[in-house]
Amino acid sequence: MRPTLPARRLNFSSSHDLTLSTSQALTVSIFSCLSEGAAEICRLLKEECPVRDGLLTPLQIRDLTLVNRSVVSAMCLYSAGTNGVARTFHEAHLTRFALGGAGLIFTEATAISAEGRITPADLGIYTDKQAGRLGEIAGKIKELGSVPGIQISHAGRKGSGIAPWAAPGDYAGIDGFPWNIKAPSAIAAPGKATPEALTASEIDMLLQDWITAARRADAAGFEVLELHGAHGYLLHQFLSPLTNQRTDNWGGSLENRMRFPLEVVRAVRAAWPAGKPLFYRMSVGDGDNAHWSLADSVTFARRLKVLGVDVVDCSGGGIEDVTTRRPPGTHGYQVPWAAKLKHDTGVRTMAVGLITEAQQADSIIAQGQADLVAVARQNLVNPNWTALARHQLTGGYDGFPPQFASFLARWSDVVSALPPVADTAAHLRQLKE
Ligand SMILES: Cc1cc2nc3c(=O)[nH]c(=O)nc-3n(C[C@H](O)[C@H](O)[C@H](O)COP(=O)(O)O)c2cc1C
Repeated sequence: MRPTLPARRLNFSSSHDLTLSTSQALTVSIFSCLSEGAAEICRLLKEECPVRDGLLTPLQIRDLTLVNRSVVSAMCLYSAGTNGVARTFHEAHLTRFALGGAGLIFTEATAISAEGRITPADLGIYTDKQAGRLGEIAGKIKELGSVPGIQISHAGRKGSGIAPWAAPGDYAGIDGFPWNIKAPSAIAAPGKATPEALTASEIDMLLQDWITAARRADAAGFEVLELHGAHGYLLHQFLSPLTNQRTDNWGGSLENRMRFPLEVVRAVRAAWPAGKPLFYRMSVGDGDNAHWSLADSVTFARRLKVLGVDVVDCSGGGIEDVTTRRPPGTHGYQVPWAAKLKHDTGVRTMAVGLITEAQQADSIIAQGQADLVAVARQNLVNPNWTALARHQLTGGYDGFPPQFASFLARWSDVVSALPPVADTAAHLRQLKE
């Protein structure tokens, strides 16, 4: 017999009652567990009183379950050979986040074609050799208990550049550098060469490059694919009226400017396995938002969701002005965008940008502002950021590999019983007396 939940007594009318009714729920839970159908009642209680989600709560998206909501954001290293093949440096960089407990680890922006590279030293996924080496790294990330994701990208008018730390002469003599860059319109990015406007047939060929890259990423063993549609790169260039002044089907109205990015999403979703999540990184805001508004972002995110994008990664900037890349003044400055898109469209969102503290990240999830939190620079400072966040939130060391965890727990007891470091000499003297 299916027992009925005493709903009126518990006042389970909405999940907002959760904190008010927790003790009631416990009382009824104990009572119910003594009665017939206890297991079913407990299951119903769990449904009605979900435990608060947080940074450490697993998340299922399609067939994939992430062990927590902590994501290593894509970070370009501009350190591949000119063949775009990952090196030991990339492998060490990415796998250490897996040991550090991150739930999902993205590669840097990985070019879908040689022309789509930001610099000659970008990672690529347009040859089998590149994909094979990336596959080895993806396998190691999995072996170490995390999930490998890849961000694929085309730089458009921001291609053929140099790494932030390089001097122009550093790339002299590299075969094919600089190369001709192409973009929706022949409008130069600040300090860059003027691109050629893409022809209709070139746009069709580009679509194929996105599809081929997605297929290679799947075959290489990546579990999550992110399309880089932010930061003023090619897909973003189609969206913004500042960089897209085409007069054909791909330019003009918002509908036309969204056309190519949405075609890419539709085609990639069809090429990428149905069980694997697809993320889209967008610049929700750009400059003073005069040319691309928050309402435009909501419209676009809604369309992404319909086409099967599982998570919109809410970043910003990249086209209007280089000043948009200046460090903003507040922690979590882009979180309100993730919250807005999630609220208005129902799509899952990922928040990113100056999220540095465990509590901060946890409360972004707990307050329902985003489903995932991406961290970039703080992970460079400390690749164990997620494991340490778990320690700060729960007191345990189980976010670290078990090989470390048992030692760390004992070590922590020893260290906390010691006198402060500054008092060590006095303490030693005391011991001798
Ligand atoms: C070294 C470095 C490289 C980056 N490369 C990429 C990239 O390849 N793709 C991308 O979408 N964002 C890239 N970003 C932006 C980050 O993913 C992230 O959105 C940004 O740094 C804000 O997050 P943070 O405050 O946690 O660093 C990069 C950031 C850094 C610091």
